Amino acid sequence: MNNEEALNKITKLRNELADHNYKYYVLAQPEISDFDFDMKLKELEKLEAEFPQFADPNSPTQRVGSDISKDFEQVEHKYSMLSLSNAYSEEEIKDFDTRVKKIIETDCDYVCELKFDGSSISLTYENGELIRAVTRGDGVKGDDVTTNVRTIKSIPLKLRGNDYPANFEIRGEILMPFKVFDALNAKLEKAGEQLLANPRNTSAGTLKMKNSSVVASRKLDAYLYYMLGNDLPMDGHFENLQKAKEWGFKISDAIEVCKNLNEVYTFIKKWDTERHKLPVATDGVVIKVNSKKLQDNLGFTAKSPRWAIAYKFKAESVSTVLKSVSYQVGRTGAVTPVANLEPVHIAGTMVKRASLHNADIIQNHDLHIGDTVFVEKGGEIIPKITGVDVSKRHPMFSPVIFIENCPECKTPLIRKEGESAHYCPNEDGCPPQIKGKMEHFVSRKGMDIDGLGQETIELLYNEGFVKGITDFYQLKKGQLANLDRMGEKSALRILEGLETSKKVPFERVLFSLGIRFVGETIAKILVKKLHTIENIQAATFEELIDIDEIGDKIAESVIAWFSIEKHLQIIETLKQYGLQFKINENQLIGQTDKLKGLNIIISGTFEQHSRDELKKIIEKNGGKNVGSISKKTSYLLAGKNIGPSKLEKANKLKIPIISENDFLKMLK
Ligand code: IVH
Repeated sequence: MNNEEALNKITKLRNELADHNYKYYVLAQPEISDFDFDMKLKELEKLEAEFPQFADPNSPTQRVGSDISKDFEQVEHKYSMLSLSNAYSEEEIKDFDTRVKKIIETDCDYVCELKFDGSSISLTYENGELIRAVTRGDGVKGDDVTTNVRTIKSIPLKLRGNDYPANFEIRGEILMPFKVFDALNAKLEKAGEQLLANPRNTSAGTLKMKNSSVVASRKLDAYLYYMLGNDLPMDGHFENLQKAKEWGFKISDAIEVCKNLNEVYTFIKKWDTERHKLPVATDGVVIKVNSKKLQDNLGFTAKSPRWAIAYKFKAESVSTVLKSVSYQVGRTGAVTPVANLEPVHIAGTMVKRASLHNADIIQNHDLHIGDTVFVEKGGEIIPKITGVDVSKRHPMFSPVIFIENCPECKTPLIRKEGESAHYCPNEDGCPPQIKGKMEHFVSRKGMDIDGLGQETIELLYNEGFVKGITDFYQLKKGQLANLDRMGEKSALRILEGLETSKKVPFERVLFSLGIRFVGETIAKILVKKLHTIENIQAATFEELIDIDEIGDKIAESVIAWFSIEKHLQIIETLKQYGLQFKINENQLIGQTDKLKGLNIIISGTFEQHSRDELKKIIEKNGGKNVGSISKKTSYLLAGKNIGPSKLEKANKLKIPIISENDFLKMLK
């Protein structure tokens, strides 16, 4: 066969296989037998091996994956991957509708879809070919998992038809079907290995596996629900998804355009029961404004689009028997009781344990070992106990009594005034607290040290190589490389990770220290306001609570943390290793107090800046961007097409209205 003949044959086989693939995995209407499919695939594999010059990463042969291990590259999302705000009742949906109508000032169609409960993924297509698949990550940047995603048969590698935009992104959910999950767990059980918690976590874990041939064997599925790009074919979200279906994407049939809220409620009622017949997990209904134009008009809050809301289904509740209670000690020393249950099936997965949160819950339920309890699976990964069937309690059952000493280090537990949790106060000597703090330190949102996870920390701690966070920076290659299941390559990766962590911005370093109540957001606020660790340490209670969003609890916790000598030593040591303890100069550039104390509302569309940019400018200059007009509003920053009701309200309350130019002049 000459080159030309080979290329023709290869192209023909690729097209045929892609077509059969689509019919099997997307339409569920296969046309040929598995055997015939495999024969064609083998033929193509052989030709591709013989003519490597015609290799193509989007060839159907690539769907089997490879065992070449690959680290994931982090890529920034072109459009941030936000979450959705939630509603739990018709009332809250009504409120959503009111908010929407108030902004758009016209009627609109809604699209109802199922909320799939898997891991979100963003797929980029260029000229009809899949070029990149990125996980949600922290919403701003995620992991490039393209090689793994290519193994998912319901995701088209090349699009059908020819009317797709040259460049677009489509987002959806990667899911592990219940059947696949159960089979996987059955296998693990047989092998005496630890079982997997649920399909959602398993699909997320699978997506991040290094070996794509294992991913291929896990039979993941994908439903798409959101298209982004500059030249989408239609204005309607629903209509765009129907187009996407023609191009080969799996779009759920559980989708409807609703003209009013009654139609929305009907959709929800129908699917609350129907969804149990589906092969994958769903946990609600997403209600979206159909028109893209109106969506753009509505825009986004910092966390979620204003044009959509997720209605969450009520959790399924089942009854089972409480076998025993065990206790876990977390990073902060908080002791959490955990119920060990007779295994039951809830919402498609097997449940053996449930969180009891704290002593009050045990007391309120008056739990006895042997009790028949009701278990529910809510939004959290771990299910919870919601009640007891007292009629089934035997007089011989003994009540659950909360432990008095730490299960790990035997220190007597304490319970602070007004707090529900018991704590082990042995902060520096209790192993799970020490390890927990170290895990938090290296975690993704913290110092983000590649390769240092729970397991490695456990090994390092057991070997006595690290006893606290500062010890990481003294690790030697030999110590790491000799650990179980570790090699020179992984050791080097960790050392490199530690080195790069010295550039991690101060706000994340502050978060990594694990000060109680100082999460990501509070760390950012503290750094933005106080700039250096010295200033934060020196801040008084009054100075701290004077900062927006910082209340008594946080201020007290910060002061308490800095009053411990050992913590100051940790900071000194980390400083010597070169970690960042002051705000990055670039963050300071352009930061002023010019809008201090001003509440500014933005409305309409602008010429020089987007609304998001204007919001950032307001915040950078010490002002506050507010969502609705009230007496406290200082200015209405008005662009084109501002809603008449907003104007009216501003006039009524005598709020000064300024243009984009007026606003920019204020900053001069
Ligand atoms: S639309 C800007 N539609 O739920 C966000 N999301 O809690 C647009 N999800 O991040 C998302 N099913 O991962 C949308 N039919 C659906 C969905 C859905 C599941 C996920 C998605 C999102 C999360 C929000």
